[in-house]
Amino acid sequence: MTSTTLICDTQPWKDLKAHVEDIKKTHLRDLMNDKERCESMMVEFDGLFLDYSRQCATLNTMDKLYKLAEAASLKQQINRMYSGEHINSTENRSVLHVALRAPRDAVINSDGKNVVPDVWNVLDKIKDFSEKVRSGSWIGATGKPLKDVIAIGIGGSFLGPLFVHTALQTDPEAVEFAKGRQLRFLANVDPIDVARNIAGLNPETTLVVVVSKTFTTAETMLNARTLREWISSALGPSAVAKHMVAVSTNLTLVEKFGIDPNNAFAFWDWVGGRYSVCSAVGVLPLSLQYGFSIVEKFLKGASSIDDHFRSAPFEKNIPVLLGLLSVWNVSFLGYPARAILPYSQALEKFAPHIQQVSMESNGKGVSIDGVPLPYEAGEIDFGEPGTNGQHSFYQLIHQGRVIPCDFIGIVKSQQPVYLKGEVVSNHDELMSNFFAQPDALAYGKTAEQLLKENVSQHLIPHKTFSGNRPSLSLLLPTLNAYNIGQLLASYEHRVAVEGFVWGINSFDQWGVELGKSLATQVRKQLHTSRTKSEPVEGFNFSTTKLLTRYLQASSDIPADPPTLLPRI
Ligand code: F6P
Repeated sequence: MTSTTLICDTQPWKDLKAHVEDIKKTHLRDLMNDKERCESMMVEFDGLFLDYSRQCATLNTMDKLYKLAEAASLKQQINRMYSGEHINSTENRSVLHVALRAPRDAVINSDGKNVVPDVWNVLDKIKDFSEKVRSGSWIGATGKPLKDVIAIGIGGSFLGPLFVHTALQTDPEAVEFAKGRQLRFLANVDPIDVARNIAGLNPETTLVVVVSKTFTTAETMLNARTLREWISSALGPSAVAKHMVAVSTNLTLVEKFGIDPNNAFAFWDWVGGRYSVCSAVGVLPLSLQYGFSIVEKFLKGASSIDDHFRSAPFEKNIPVLLGLLSVWNVSFLGYPARAILPYSQALEKFAPHIQQVSMESNGKGVSIDGVPLPYEAGEIDFGEPGTNGQHSFYQLIHQGRVIPCDFIGIVKSQQPVYLKGEVVSNHDELMSNFFAQPDALAYGKTAEQLLKENVSQHLIPHKTFSGNRPSLSLLLPTLNAYNIGQLLASYEHRVAVEGFVWGINSFDQWGVELGKSLATQVRKQLHTSRTKSEPVEGFNFSTTKLLTRYLQASSDIPADPPTLLPRI
């Protein structure tokens, strides 16, 4: 395929389009009876077990998908990523988050330079700094150890670290290392988020980590100025040096902000924001909370999947299979959404993180060469841990729209509970649902079955389940730092696979810019209206009306109020 050919013009795409008719004639109830098919739809790597036999797909579908991968030059695209080519062409950047978790002796080049030594310099600096803070040899301005950390950041500078923190919070090994410490995340520019973050914390014992790739993100910078004020109003301006550190690619702006560059932890423009949890973005706050050794295990788990993704044949390659199946569901079967359903409360922040990884990466309308796409790319990701989701939106998944589901289960709970006399342990109870739901979706329930159960005639349509609803099951042995890294990397690479096949740039995010620039115009208007009582001008009728109403209803707020911080 030449670089300007769209994937939909290739023969394998057309073959898959035609193949949809064959699949429409099948039902998962029957497909699941074919043991050979099911067995060849199970893959294992380094403890991860993927069963995709409940996809509306046959072995023939898979062959056609491998041909599609070939037509999209998937193997070459993966190699281009690992070899540091500027595959993020609209920003002229390499895409090398795999280098963030590569072993010390690996060689990964970007622009002719091996980036791995730089990665490890920062990791060593984080190890050293976090040990100092954790041991109390780095102390606050009044001589007290810093036991609490607030990480300020948004989007990729927040969601990944929050997901990993939430997942580690109940891991017995991590719990031991986190004793007496707190890690909080301040993301939203809503002052309520500031209030929630500082509630119960003492600036004397708090370290603030400002995390921003660009160090220009409006929300993060205002929150950083707010917490700088919180610290300096309590402890004096000189305390900032002891109580604020930064993670950024823009060390000049870090210094301008007033943070000592020695207390700044770098990363690089070849790390996309949403792929940055393995850089100092995640590693610093997580090491402060759990110690570097735990975080290193997380990096090793991710690295194991990186090697697998690069080297395993497509039929055995978990991220490739996940990605191809998503393309099949979205572009051929016409299912635009995907539910991420971890049967683990520790993974409650996994879906929010993957929402950004997936939707910011693949929510594109043009090909990498700027050609409008005649097909939809990207998918709508959402999710909740099981079983909570079952009591929320599963109704729609069972009897309403068809939403391919990712069921993620853990063999051994982080926090097992056994009650004498109960039929099963609490974790087995949870996992009973994990095993039951995919079959309920696949098999459904027929009118005949209901009749046999003497269900009243008028209720039969309401109690019938069509079935044939696709899902996949991913089983992890445990949920420790290593497995969390594996899970993260599997999904990161899955998203890349989808983008490579759709022929889009999964590593830029121009779509977030327009709203940001319009907010700048509104900000200016709010300022002039509040300080000079100027009328709202230059907006459409609706926005003018809304802004005027907002200003009028809050006209009792003084034009130049004194500094006010939340009192909570
Ligand atoms: O939402 C847009 C975005 O640029 C994301 O891609 C990024 O993760 C987030 O803002 C935060 O950016 P930064 O780390 O530069 O503050």
